[in-house]
Amino acid sequence: MICYDEAHHIFKLDTPNTSYVFGLTDESYPGQIYYGKKIKDTDLGYLLREDERPQPPSILRREKAGYFDFYPMEYPSVGIGDARESCIGIRTMDGQEGLELRYRSHRIYAGKRPLEGLPATWDAASAAHSDASSDDVHTTGQKDKEAVQTAQTASCSCSTLEVTMEDEVTGLQVVLSYTAFEDVDAITRSVRVENGGERSVYLTKVLSACLHVEQENLEVLTLPGSWSRERQIQRQKLGYGSVVTESIRGISSHQDHPFMALVTENCTQTTGDVYAMNFVYSGNFLAKAMRDQFDQTRMVMGIHPDRFCWKLEPGESFQAPEAVLVYSDEGLGKMTRAFHRLYRNHLIRGYWKDRRRPVLINNWEATYFNFDTEKLLAIAREAAERGIEMLVVDDGWFGYRSNDDSSLGDWQVNEKKLPGGFTYLAQEVNKLGMKLGIWLEPEMVSEDSNLYREHPDWALQMNGRELGQARAQYVLDLSRPEVAEYVYGMIRDVLSSANIEYVKWDMNRLLSDVGNLTLPADRQGEIMHRYMLAVYGLQDRLTKDFPQLLLENCCSGGGRFDPGMLYYSPQIWCSDDTDAIERLSIQEGTQLLYPLSCIGAHVSICPNHGTGRVTPFETRGVVALSGTFGYELDITRLPDEEKDQIPGQVAHYKQFSHLIRNGEYYRIASWRENHLYDCFMVVSEDRTEALCTYVQVLSQINYKSRRIRLLGLDPDAYYSVTEVSLAETCAEIQGQTAGNEAAAGGGDSTERDGGDIAAADCGSAAAKKCYQGAALMYAGILMPRVMGDFQTRLLHIRKI
Ligand code: DGJ
Repeated sequence: MICYDEAHHIFKLDTPNTSYVFGLTDESYPGQIYYGKKIKDTDLGYLLREDERPQPPSILRREKAGYFDFYPMEYPSVGIGDARESCIGIRTMDGQEGLELRYRSHRIYAGKRPLEGLPATWDAASAAHSDASSDDVHTTGQKDKEAVQTAQTASCSCSTLEVTMEDEVTGLQVVLSYTAFEDVDAITRSVRVENGGERSVYLTKVLSACLHVEQENLEVLTLPGSWSRERQIQRQKLGYGSVVTESIRGISSHQDHPFMALVTENCTQTTGDVYAMNFVYSGNFLAKAMRDQFDQTRMVMGIHPDRFCWKLEPGESFQAPEAVLVYSDEGLGKMTRAFHRLYRNHLIRGYWKDRRRPVLINNWEATYFNFDTEKLLAIAREAAERGIEMLVVDDGWFGYRSNDDSSLGDWQVNEKKLPGGFTYLAQEVNKLGMKLGIWLEPEMVSEDSNLYREHPDWALQMNGRELGQARAQYVLDLSRPEVAEYVYGMIRDVLSSANIEYVKWDMNRLLSDVGNLTLPADRQGEIMHRYMLAVYGLQDRLTKDFPQLLLENCCSGGGRFDPGMLYYSPQIWCSDDTDAIERLSIQEGTQLLYPLSCIGAHVSICPNHGTGRVTPFETRGVVALSGTFGYELDITRLPDEEKDQIPGQVAHYKQFSHLIRNGEYYRIASWRENHLYDCFMVVSEDRTEALCTYVQVLSQINYKSRRIRLLGLDPDAYYSVTEVSLAETCAEIQGQTAGNEAAAGGGDSTERDGGDIAAADCGSAAAKKCYQGAALMYAGILMPRVMGDFQTRLLHIRKI
């Protein structure tokens, strides 16, 4: 719910457990007051410190600049005295760079409007009536009415506030949009800039959100990484000065992630304050936290101002992407569950949103470029026999590509490798009862390609400068409409040529040489954002024209694993690192924000191609189980004892996919922190069922069973705890003659009878006991000692 207290000039946005409050000074400068646990009262204006020196401009006008350098401006602008990081910067046609934004009007309405051309969280009811319940709209241009205005959300699950501010000198209007959700503790913010003046203006910076936190001893949590080492959780103390995480690579990137959280010192999974921001955008971003001289911390997030300059003609507007804000008073776990819930219910869309995804087998690590129809069908046959449901043909099926060096852009099937093309392959794969999926990298072009030979000007490039390759390829200049149109036609033709039910949309390099041969000089700074809008436009068309297509985004692994991409594809390939142990920390960082249902995870071959590590097949299965689950190996060359485990793993994925897709996530222990073991749970919303994944990374001599305290259960309910045995499931499934789906229903039969995990010896035939939720959570269970490194245990917990 959102309300405006007109008597005190206070806006308050409430979610189930949080309040976000800002107010206006007499001179109409919006200032941030509070974000935290829910507060009923709206009269919090005293926190704006209008009585402290330097006073607001109306009282002591000569102190205006000094005042701005202290005031917690809701949307700080450049050039008028606030020397901290601003959110908006402009350059006028006179070359001047100041902007002073004052409140003009606001409206509150039920629901949420889409952001033109951009991914954004949505509300089912307002999506159905896209005019966002105009009955509930309140508008005011004055601040002196008595009533407290509110928007009840009626059938909508959120309400929206739009605050319009104006700069008198340029006529520029800035509309700040806030949405507060009814069913999740999250608030979203976005910004639209409209040129209501008579002259063009250059927007040199338009960030999407700003948050002020007045709390000492804050740390900054970010998710830096690298290729094959994405989203590693990092915490650092915030002293005076700034901490920055950013990308100017044209992708949200492997190296940094569009996420930042301020957390109180000693914040854990269950305790401490967390103020988090995540950006619903896949291109350049800046996130910055700075602690100022008065111990106020400002955190901002938005499109990176480097390489950004957008010319706004009179009457035109610019829409900045959305940022998601989450506050938790119970540590990181509660923050995670808020993000998961928001993304599951209000970001991910389409046919596959709530559906179990097919178990796939991808040929990349099986064959790399070296495959033909025979090889693929051999893999498919063995896979189908073991319950795998989809074959994905990865890179190398088009042009004459047999390595990285050629053919991107020439999206015609290489008939030497695949005679009869996808039409024949799909028919054969479908005969096996499997679906067919393919890999595409539509944003790229190889120098050695017909497309590049015909249209060398279609690559991003700067006049007279030699183009730089990365992975032997160039980036197509999708900011040019004719290039984007060509790319779409190519995608449509391939997908219409056969029964292709899945696409892995890859993108394998950063953007460089960012120049456009058709835009005027003063619009070259728009290219990076125009490029992103074009990618979104393509994926939007694709998902509309092929509504049942399962789209998986990918960017050399997880280089564009962000909420922007999630809006178009319900799953994203998490990382090219498929080593089960390395994956633990990559997936932990990813799970911090994103639901397990969207995290692409596969079982691959050992020794692992990236690390050379050998892990048990069972462990690889358990680690991939906390994602979309699939295989990426040459099944025809797999040892029998590993091949025989596949039906059991597939059965488990099917059995537990409702928990993995919809369960509430609780992290119990992190291998990253303790260097020994990893443990987390997913718990059904009604707390009747849970799955606990335990991975003993390193074994130790001379230790006892390990006490693990479960989380998220109903303390008063009673539960059984059973270890799920992959080996026994496999044996059972092999004994069955029924088909795949029957195996999927393996259910209870997959559990170890008498596998009472709380007994120190798990293998004993102890009678199955039940435990009170309170005992399991507060006192804990005993995880038996396991011999050997890289061992896993999977516990199924059910309410009795
Ligand atoms: C990078 C992806 O992340 C891999 O999974 C694979 O598809 C290769 N590209 C193919 O070039």
